[in-house]
Formats: sequence, C-alpha cells, structure tokens
Amino acid sequence: MLTNEQVLSLLGTINEPFINKSFLELNAVKEISIKEEKNHVSVKVALFKTGTAEQMQIQTQIVQVLKQNGADTVGIRFTEFTEEEKSQFTQSEEGQEEASLSLLDNKKVEFIAIASGKGGVGKSTVSVNLAVALARIGKKVGIIDADIYGFSVPDMMGITTRPVIRGERIIPVDRFGVKVISMGFFVEDNSPIIWRGPMLGKMLQQFFTEVEWGDLDYLLLDLPPGTGDVALDVHSMLPSCKEIIVTTPHPTASVVAARAGVMALKTNHEVIGVVENMSYFESKNTGEKEYVFGKGGGERLAKELQTTLLGQLPLKQPDWDEEDFAPSIYDQNHPTGKIYTDIAKQVVEKIVLNK
Ligand SMILES: Nc1ncnc2c1ncn2[C@@H]1O[C@H](COP(=O)(O)OP(=O)(O)OP(=O)(O)O)[C@@H](O)[C@H]1O
Ligand SMILES: [Mg+2]
Repeated sequence: MLTNEQVLSLLGTINEPFINKSFLELNAVKEISIKEEKNHVSVKVALFKTGTAEQMQIQTQIVQVLKQNGADTVGIRFTEFTEEEKSQFTQSEEGQEEASLSLLDNKKVEFIAIASGKGGVGKSTVSVNLAVALARIGKKVGIIDADIYGFSVPDMMGITTRPVIRGERIIPVDRFGVKVISMGFFVEDNSPIIWRGPMLGKMLQQFFTEVEWGDLDYLLLDLPPGTGDVALDVHSMLPSCKEIIVTTPHPTASVVAARAGVMALKTNHEVIGVVENMSYFESKNTGEKEYVFGKGGGERLAKELQTTLLGQLPLKQPDWDEEDFAPSIYDQNHPTGKIYTDIAKQVVEKIVLNK
C-alpha cells in the first residue's frame, strides 16, 4: 500500500501545465487520503486554471502513476490556486520571461512569415530558398519551420543532424549559412504528432525564447497552409511581422491566397509582396514558356493586396548534388536560384525603405 510520502513524491514531479513548474515546487498537492482496506488513494490538487483540457491530461497522468505504483482506485479533486499563490507564481514567471524573450524584443530582427491561402503552393520551397538567398547576399538569417504538424524544412534543406542542447538552450542547426529550427528535429522516426492548439502555441513560443539565435537580421517563418491556429499565434506573438504570400498563377488561386493576405492586413501585418510559384514551364529544347497553370494569379493578388509581385518562379526542380544533398535548394547559378537572389534583394530593399 502506498504511503502519503510516496504519493507526494510520485505526484511531485508532474508539471503544472500553465506555470510549467513541478507540483512539488508549487506545493500543488493539497490533500492526500488513503483508504487501506479498499486500496484507494484520493488527492486534491491545485492548478492555475480548472475545467480545461490540460486538467483532463493531468487527471490521466495522476491516475496512471498512482495505479502503476499500487493503488486500485484513485479519486481526484481539482481546485485553483488562491489569488495570492497565483500572483506569486506569475511574478517570478514574468521575471524569467524577460530574461529569455530577447528574440521577440529584439528590434533589429525582421520577422517575415511566408503564408498562403492553401497547401502545396510552395511556401516551404520559397521559405528555404529565400532564406538561403538572403544568406548568400550577406544577411544573418534564421528560419522557423512553423508547420508543426507538417514540418518539411529539414528534409528540403537536406539536414541530417539535430540541434545541440546546451544547458537550457537549443542551438539551431546551421545549413548554407541559415540557422534552422523545426519540430521535425524533436520527433522520433518521423511519426506524426497529434497536438492540440495550446501546445502548438507553446512550441512556437519555445522556438522564439529557448533557441539560441544569436545575431540575426531576418527570421523567416514557414507557416502551415491556411489561416488556422498557428498563423493566428504568429500574428499575435509577432505584431511587427511582415508577410510574403505565395500563390500559383491560376486566377482562382489568388482568390484563396487573398484570404491569407486579408488576415495579414487585418492584424496589421504588412504584406511586403507576393511570390507566384509554378508560373510556367520552360521547354529545354525551344525555350518556349508554357503557362500550364494559367496566368495572372500573382499579379492579380499583388494588386488586390496593394503590394508588389516580387517574382515568378518556373516549374523546375533544383539540380541534385549527390555529395551534399539538399533536394529543394536551388544553386545560386541555377536560373531559379538567380530569381531567388533577385527576390531576396527586393525584400531587403523594401524593408530598408519602409523603415
Ligand atoms: N517551382 C517549382 N517547381 C517544381 N516543383 C516545385 C516548385 N515549387 C514547389 N515544388 C514542389 O511542390 C511540392 C509542394 O511544395 P511545398 O512543400 O514547398 O509547398 P507548401 O506550400 O509548403 O506545402 P504545404 O502546404 O504542404 O506546407 C513539393 O514537392 C515541391 O518540391
Ligand atoms: Mg510547407
């Protein structure tokens, strides 16, 4: 049969989901009672907020750990910390955040989110190549793969290493002079992640605060498709974030993409331009351009959002280098690589001029 002390030490290591400190540190286990004849343990636990999805998760965790350690049945009551306790916790918390929020507070870094109205139009391709192009013209660049479910940046850039953890800081992976961080680095065996909204937000927050970005000029964010949770989080976390919207040339594609643009405008994110991807196919033999997905989508969208069409990228894969494989990165001498250099220069100019 478990004792009070054992119950306390078993539950003590569980983390309070809102404050992210252990139950022991927070003195969150308020009551323990044990009925020996029934092998029943009941506890009363304080949380920062009750009646939440996090509470359900904690409940499961408590039942599991107590049953694994010998209880037949478990009873749990939840209560909220008193106002006094809450204010104590948040005071020390704020102090900590100040120390680590440097990237979000750093006025020098320009955040640029790459967005689109729908999936598969080439956001990630544009993000990684624009990042590399900015690095090629001498900028200090980082990229956050904010597509937490559908991360693709590490594979696209041919990254085979993982970030190094130094103390409590995560050192991003350096690839082609770009500092890279992705959920993909923290997942085993490429298994899909099923997380809920609040955790996604926290993940993103950690990418900002716990990663050692060092000195940066630009931080690019490869957003998931559409205008969902993560896009909203980015909008609220980074009020000064700029946006580039990627679209395909089909006239109706621009209508879908415009939704992402409208959201950016609503949240006062400046749209610095539109990139039209998969604009045409150029015949190797005749040099003739075929507009396989239609024409005019990028221009139309740029007009609608009162911004610039930064470039039109043909349908073409990069040349693959078996020695240093990065399947989606175009060499700087590749025709598409040159277009990216041109887009990068325009981005720098636009941002400098708008200051
Ligand atoms: N200009 C191009 N020419 C040829 N293939 C391309 C081009 N742009 C993108 N692709 C290919 O199209 C596919 C989708 O591109 P990508 O993953 O960049 O899109 P995405 O908008 O990020 O997608 P998701 O919404 O799933 O995140 C990839 O396989 C990519 O290699
Ligand atoms: Mg993508």
